[in-house]
Amino acid sequence: MADPVIRLSDAHLTLQGNAGPVPILRGLSLQVERGETVGLVGPSGSGKSSLLMLMGGLERATGGLVQAMGQDLTALDEDALARFRLSHMGVVFQSFHLIPTMTA
Ligand SMILES: Nc1ncnc2c1ncn2[C@@H]1O[C@H](COP(=O)(O)OP(=O)(O)O)[C@@H](O)[C@H]1O
Ligand SMILES: [Mg+2]
Repeated sequence: MADPVIRLSDAHLTLQGNAGPVPILRGLSLQVERGETVGLVGPSGSGKSSLLMLMGGLERATGGLVQAMGQDLTALDEDALARFRLSHMGVVFQSFHLIPTMTA
C-alpha cells in the first residue's frame, strides 16, 4: 500500500520562550491517507497552526517522527525542507503576507 500522505508519531514541538521552554505539542500521533479530507478543530491556542507548520515543513519537530509522502521531515535541513515545500506543499495562510509597497 502507498505511504500515508502524512504520518506523525509521538511528535513534539517545544519552543523557547523568555521564561524557558514552552511545550506546544506533546506526543502527537496522526495518520492521513491519500484521498482523505481532514478537518482540524480545537479551541484557539490548542496548537492547530503549530501542527500545520510541522506537517507543511515550515517548522521542525523537536521530537518524534513527522513524515510527509513517505519522507522524514525531521531529517531535512532548511534547504531540503524548502525544496520539499516547493514540490509537495501548498499553504494558504490566514494572513495574505503580501508586500504592501508592491502591486504585482
Ligand atoms: N513562536 C511561538 N513562541 C511561543 N509560543 C508560541 C509560538 N507560536 C505559538 N505559540 C503558543 O503555542 C500554542 C498553540 O498556538 P497555535 O498553534 O497558534 O494554536 P491555534 O492555531 O490552535 O490557535 C499557544 O499557546 C501559543 O501561544
Ligand atoms: Mg491558528
